[in-house]
Amino acid sequence: MEIIRVKDAAAGGKKAFEIIQQAMKDGIHTLGLATGSTPITLYQEMTNSDLDFSNMTSINLDEYVGLGGEDKQSYRYFMNENLFNQKPFKETFVPNGKAEDLQAECQRYDDVIATHPIDIQILGIGRNGHIGFNEPGTPLDSKTSVVNLTESTIEANKRFFDKVEDVPTKAVSMGIGSILQGKKMVLMAYGADKADAIKGMVDGPVTTDLPASALQNHPDVVVIVDDAAASKL
Ligand code: GLP
Repeated sequence: MEIIRVKDAAAGGKKAFEIIQQAMKDGIHTLGLATGSTPITLYQEMTNSDLDFSNMTSINLDEYVGLGGEDKQSYRYFMNENLFNQKPFKETFVPNGKAEDLQAECQRYDDVIATHPIDIQILGIGRNGHIGFNEPGTPLDSKTSVVNLTESTIEANKRFFDKVEDVPTKAVSMGIGSILQGKKMVLMAYGADKADAIKGMVDGPVTTDLPASALQNHPDVVVIVDDAAASKL
């Protein structure tokens, strides 16, 4: 793992942007994208840049079960607002959280990943070390599946909803195995509440207790952290 320390989220967004910019010059086609507050500075860099994404494909990590693109808290809506409306891509994939047959949707999504190999996978990290919505206990080779969110994740994500009861309890998430198929991983983390997860991911054992520790088994991982998130390294 290459660890890049930055002053703050703004500087982190610039670093991640530089990696994408160089890779696009080198001819990549497909970005794996993430939601949450962490990648917002990266998406600002992308929208403010003169880069053209109209030949690029994007594949997002996850979506809440029960929310559709018109729901303001859905990840599809988040991506449209923060990136795609300003910078159109050739095609953008986000799991369909309103699919009638969620199992079929998971299979469809793994097929999408197989036919569009991800060149760079952007990742945030949950306070409990989750990536995508793969909570502790998820097998490290898991495929896309319907997952139950933990109490702590529901608590952490309630800030985006009017009340905690509105936070969905399930999501469709790319599996850890699906994520690790990407050629390069770029994980960003900012703030003291990510410090334990970052410490475990970098220095701890590879364990299902901390899903992000699986990144230790990937040959090309860049971790972009501010001082607070890196404070326990
Ligand atoms: C959610 C997302 C993750 C994200 C995490 C951290 O659970 N499914 O992809 O990494 O939140 O969010 P934030 O960046 O807001 O701290």
